Amino acid sequence: MAGSYRQKSSPAIHRSRLKSRYVLSIVVGLILGFALSFACLPLMSICDSSPSIFLEPFSSSLNVRLDSGSRSSNNKLDSFRILNRQARSIADVTLVDYRSKDYEPRIHPLRQPSAKSNNSNTNVNTNNKNKTANAPTRPPSTSIRPRYIADELGIREKVLVAVLAETDRLNTFSLFLNQTLHDHVNRLLFFINDNVQNFPKTMQVIAINDERTYLKPFYVLKYLAEKMINSYDWFFLVPDNTFIRGYKLTEFLNHISIGQDLYMGQAFDDVHAVYCYFGSGIIISSSVLRKVLTELDWCTKNAYSQDVTDNIGRCILKTAKSPCANAASSYQFKAYVNYRFEFDTDIVKLRKSANFNDSLTVHPINDLETMLKLQKYFNQVEIDETIKSIKTYGETIEQSSCYTLEGCGHIPWPIGVPPPFKPPTRFDVLRWDYFNETHIYLKNDNDVIDPLKDDDYEDIHEVIDYSVQQFKQTYGNQLTFKTLLNGYRQFDPTRGTHYVIDIVLTDGNNNEYIKRAELMRPLGLVEIIPMPFVTETTKLFLILPIHSDEESVAIRFLHHVNRTLFDRETRDKFELLLTHIVTTKEENYQTQKWFENIRSTVDSIRQIHTQLAITYHTVLLPSSTIPHSSQLIYLLDSFQAKLRTNALIFITNPYVNIDSDFLNRCRLNVIENIQMFFPIAFYQYHPHIIALSRNITDSTTIDLHKTVGWFNSYAYEHIGLYMSDYLNLKRLISFHNITISTVNLYDLFVQLSDLHILRAPDQSLRVHYRTIKCDTNLQVNPIEYDRCLVQQEKGLASRGQLAMLIIENEQIKHTTNVKNK
Ligand SMILES: *[C@@H]1O[C@H](CO)[C@@H](O)[C@H](O)[C@H]1NC(C)=O
Ligand SMILES: *[C@@H]1O[C@H](CO)[C@@H](O)[C@H](O)[C@H]1NC(C)=O
Ligand SMILES: *[C@@H]1O[C@H](CO)[C@@H](O)[C@H](O)[C@H]1NC(C)=O
Ligand SMILES: *[C@@H]1O[C@H](CO)[C@@H](O)[C@H](O)[C@H]1NC(C)=O
Ligand SMILES: *[C@@H]1O[C@H](CO)[C@@H](O)[C@H](O)[C@H]1NC(C)=O
Ligand SMILES: *[C@@H]1O[C@H](CO)[C@@H](O)[C@H](O)[C@H]1NC(C)=O
Ligand SMILES: *[C@@H]1O[C@H](CO)[C@@H](O)[C@H](O)[C@H]1NC(C)=O
Ligand SMILES: *[C@@H]1O[C@H](CO)[C@@H](O)[C@H](O)[C@H]1NC(C)=O
Repeated sequence: MAGSYRQKSSPAIHRSRLKSRYVLSIVVGLILGFALSFACLPLMSICDSSPSIFLEPFSSSLNVRLDSGSRSSNNKLDSFRILNRQARSIADVTLVDYRSKDYEPRIHPLRQPSAKSNNSNTNVNTNNKNKTANAPTRPPSTSIRPRYIADELGIREKVLVAVLAETDRLNTFSLFLNQTLHDHVNRLLFFINDNVQNFPKTMQVIAINDERTYLKPFYVLKYLAEKMINSYDWFFLVPDNTFIRGYKLTEFLNHISIGQDLYMGQAFDDVHAVYCYFGSGIIISSSVLRKVLTELDWCTKNAYSQDVTDNIGRCILKTAKSPCANAASSYQFKAYVNYRFEFDTDIVKLRKSANFNDSLTVHPINDLETMLKLQKYFNQVEIDETIKSIKTYGETIEQSSCYTLEGCGHIPWPIGVPPPFKPPTRFDVLRWDYFNETHIYLKNDNDVIDPLKDDDYEDIHEVIDYSVQQFKQTYGNQLTFKTLLNGYRQFDPTRGTHYVIDIVLTDGNNNEYIKRAELMRPLGLVEIIPMPFVTETTKLFLILPIHSDEESVAIRFLHHVNRTLFDRETRDKFELLLTHIVTTKEENYQTQKWFENIRSTVDSIRQIHTQLAITYHTVLLPSSTIPHSSQLIYLLDSFQAKLRTNALIFITNPYVNIDSDFLNRCRLNVIENIQMFFPIAFYQYHPHIIALSRNITDSTTIDLHKTVGWFNSYAYEHIGLYMSDYLNLKRLISFHNITISTVNLYDLFVQLSDLHILRAPDQSLRVHYRTIKCDTNLQVNPIEYDRCLVQQEKGLASRGQLAMLIIENEQIKHTTNVKNK
């Protein structure tokens, strides 16, 4: 069915996809994060299905054989038991070779489930007779495309390693394999004979309940063929006492084309030469495995010996008609098999053998210590190989640079790092920072000199130490570091940090040498961090705390959001919680009356936007005991009972102008259990000072301009978060016995929880000027008090404006003085 369709599926699509293969691979890469996270779901649910469903397609003869066994039929159904299972992470997907020539994307349309279409027809039948007459003549609806590109293109992961393990070695050899391989292969399954539970829960162990051990490999093949075949290109079967080099294995498989039938391993030069030796591992392609499934009965009937090598080999020879291949795509499968292997005595000789350094597996291993020693040895081999290949790449780049326009020797230093950023205009020139051992000059626009802080200090001293070490190597060990003469540092976003340092060295005779060193700390590979999927449909609760003296401000706020927000928000997506903050009991009694003006504004807004949800609340926060900075914490506390734990909350204040796009940004930026959002708002300067240099035509809007305001990164009063994250934080607070009377929420999150905090300037939040009073209570918390003072100072106006003001004042004074004379 699908096969014939695939052939037919329009060649035009094929061609265009091939042409844009590079684009495709990028798109696939991007989408795969999402796709696979869901693609795994059906897989896991298959795993979850009951064993009886699983056995149904199993052909009858194997069932007969199973019945003839000593076990009851109940046990038969229980033949497989998945003891433990764990969802795969998105990160273990490699896409390395999907650009190879063998890979042709094809469309795999989902078949439309027939039952569903029947149903819809019957519905039509009952509802509308006229349409039913037409229904049979209607052409069958167009094919449904799968939801995820990975399904449609049949993208699979690279390799699954199936380990036939001994139960008593689950916690030694198997665990070792799991730990050393899980970074390199996509999936690791351990098949054991007994139903045991004492193994690390993150290992995926499957029990086979059949006493006839010689059937075990067939169960494994069957399991892989039925459940895993659509998700992996390669299957690697090994016993657990084989050492496997995970890095080498993936590298090996990356070089082999996936379009072929392959039964690969180490064949021995005896009568069994057509079979791959099981001990050193067998690689099977999914196409071979598919063929095996069709004739599994024959295989089980003809399993004469107890030898796994024979049993698997005979089965594959019969079904896939392929003998063991030792090499594919000119890459040879190398394994080291020695039943008398002793690491300590043999390694001296083996070290000299290139074959041993190249081998993929070592078999058999008798104790865990040897496994560890092999791991260490082969790690060293891989490090050496990597260093060597980096060197070769460097040389190749240097050689091929001779064919470029600039000619030899014009490649940017260091080799392999992207060329330096070329500023298109003089405004984009990257800055160089000058530093000495203890201080850095002109680090930012406001300071002339700064002492080197922790990270900078470490950074610079690491650079100095490394250079000194290199000089010693080149000019002799008698040199010692005396001082740093000059240091220059530049961060280039395209490549990394570049340093030029002049250092003074002295030798034994007190002669001084000045040496210049140039260093580069390249940027690492950019990594995409998988994030949960969030949508813009989440309901957002906007909590607006209003103090008693802020009634008019609140009304201004309402008029503003009426223009920007209210026409697109509905009851099921948005709720505004107008919260009157009262400080005394008496005020609390007056709150209904206090709300009157606000209520009438809300009512007039509601006449047009009837879909809005706006509610009124009152919270009593005695100002004597609760300082301003921790009010938000108490506020959240009081809403804890009123809102669901999965409520998305945004807290702000009535001075703010919120633009229409902000709420959606908030919905996307706050991720439950993962991320909070503390936007940096644009704060208006004092209106009188602005008015001196600008004409303010409309006092309700705030222009985004440096003479109008600033991005205030010292304030933490706009907060997007989930209630559940706050509740978790509260648990941590009480666990650590922290008194929350003076701390702010942001500091608590940074200090106590692992959540990400997204903090960035957001131009959709603009805050009207208000005088900042620094609470004397805050002096208990010096950080918070400092922040307040800085806001007071910077929030008034820019330095330029203040300077103008002073100069003008001086002039006025001067002229009046002159006049007076
Ligand atoms: C769907 O239609 C086919 C043929 O018309 C019929 O045999 C089958 O029973 C129907 N299935 C259901 C679920 O109605
Ligand atoms: C069904 O079709 C007849 C004529 O073909 C028409 O008179 C009648 O209004 C139609 N009924 C409906 C519900 O469309
Ligand atoms: C075992 O391997 C799986 C991946 O297959 C990994 O997620 C898990 O953390 C590993 N467990 C241990 C104990 O190494
Ligand atoms: C094998 O690898 C080891 C460790 O990297 C190395 O010392 C040795 O020279 C290598 N042997 C050969 C023949 O390359
Ligand atoms: C670095 O420069 C600062 C400012 O000029 C100076 O105070 C300091 O002593 C210098 N440090 C060293 C190690 O020379
Ligand atoms: C709210 O906005 C609508 C237009 O979206 C406008 O017609 C209405 O007068 C506004 N209401 C108030 C109270 O400003
Ligand atoms: C402000 O407006 C007045 C008259 O409308 C104009 O003469 C003046 O140049 C404007 N000032 C600025 C700074 O734009
Ligand atoms: C918090 O206080 C309790 C009792 O007051 C004490 O047992 C506990 O160790 C304290 N926890 C911390 C982290 O200080």
